[in-house]
Amino acid sequence: MTDLYARAQFATAYIKSQTSTAPVLGIILGSGLGNFASQVENATAIPYADIPHFPQSTVAGHSGKLVIGTIAGIPVAVMQGRVHAYEGYAMPEVTFPTRVLGQLGCRSLIVTNAAGGINTSYTQGGLVALSDHINLTGTNAALGPNEPRFALVPGAAQRFFDMSAAYSRTLRELAQKEAAKQGIDLPEGVYLAVLGPSYETPAEIRAFRTLGADLVGMSTVHEVIIARHMGLQVLGLSLVTNMAAGVLDQAINHEEVMEFGLKAEARFTSLLLALIPQIDAA
Ligand code: ADE
Repeated sequence: MTDLYARAQFATAYIKSQTSTAPVLGIILGSGLGNFASQVENATAIPYADIPHFPQSTVAGHSGKLVIGTIAGIPVAVMQGRVHAYEGYAMPEVTFPTRVLGQLGCRSLIVTNAAGGINTSYTQGGLVALSDHINLTGTNAALGPNEPRFALVPGAAQRFFDMSAAYSRTLRELAQKEAAKQGIDLPEGVYLAVLGPSYETPAEIRAFRTLGADLVGMSTVHEVIIARHMGLQVLGLSLVTNMAAGVLDQAINHEEVMEFGLKAEARFTSLLLALIPQIDAA
């Protein structure tokens, strides 16, 4: 079965055979944020290994389960772990789960990640709402023949598609209002994606700052491109797990990324729990 659409349909049919919940909101949890999946009620947890054609993460901290159930009464599909291009996966594999979330019935997507802070006003452990991104990974997730059957709304899944409002203004405003209500600092920022797996050099970070980037990471943009190709509304949230190279006089390591995920968990969880019903109503 080589056709991407057929593979996505096949995976979707398998997932539907495991649960009667029809999710309307997809959530992709980044490094260190996976515990949020425990918030799902009436949960059916499906290991990625059981889902036909689903890629499997090779990174510590990405557990690899699709958890379907409800949060605040809203049917959700939560990806606990994602795969990255730096693991050696091709673009259609990296974004296959996003295609499947759309096929399952999701119309909005919350993408989250652990990112390095380039903007010096950010603090380690802080949350940032993405206003836009810069894709410097050197590739594009929508490469290859266009597949119009992926359209979830009229006019979507065109060969060339708009990215001028990749991160929904409506969802960003909801996030801002809710964060203010809860007393959570939530600046907005531009996420710049690199391929990885090496972290950046200080000279690269200086260059990225000049380009207008506030955050740097190795994920998210591909999923967002595919979500927009299909017509999903996207909210992007970054957790600043470390300051990018050269911002502080210290080396960057993956353990730190995981540690700050745990520290931010309470804020991240309460913000998302309150936002989910609002996103469904938006
Ligand atoms: N993820 C967390 N910190 C990062 C950094 N500095 N660069 C790329 N990805 C990251």
